[in-house]
Amino acid sequence: MTASKKIDVFISKEAIDKRVKELAEMINRDYQNQEIIIVCVLNGSFIFCADLVRYITVPVQIEMVSLSSYEGTESSGEVSFRLDVKQSLVGKNIILVEDIVDTGLTISFLLKHMKLKNLASLKLCSLLLKRARLKIEVPVDYLGFDIEDKFVIGYGLDFDGHYRELPYIGVYGA
Ligand code: IMP
Repeated sequence: MTASKKIDVFISKEAIDKRVKELAEMINRDYQNQEIIIVCVLNGSFIFCADLVRYITVPVQIEMVSLSSYEGTESSGEVSFRLDVKQSLVGKNIILVEDIVDTGLTISFLLKHMKLKNLASLKLCSLLLKRARLKIEVPVDYLGFDIEDKFVIGYGLDFDGHYRELPYIGVYGA
């Protein structure tokens, strides 16, 4: 049973909150006097995105996309849309907000898709990056934490649908 496994805190609630605030400050500085659209990559980013946007002080709209690419603990490498943005993004400043870049395949697919939309600008904000796992170069403009190759859960991240509700980022204990 997943519920009985021991989970160790890997990144504390306090450390996450501090870093999320810092990321929002960078975004606020970079987009002074401009409007942005934050595109939350569901499902894993919903908590990060909700916390981040509450520190954003420039005018912001929030959209959601959902991609299917991941089952269990291994990325399948095949990506498709479950949900795409409905409004036109032409001429808009877009920031994709992702929970974690692992192999990079999912976000590369989305970046490629977004680049076709005649945007004013496109940036990527990811809470986590597992640099050692990258299979493709991914430009992360706003990065929360560069982490080692561990499977992490909590703060929106799941293992088979569980643990998203944890207020910290955790790893399975020994
Ligand atoms: P990628 O395409 O391999 O970069 O995978 C990206 C997606 O895989 C993320 O948006 C997560 O949903 C999921 N993922 C990757 N690593 C982890 C992890 O350590 N914990 C939970 N989900 C993960």
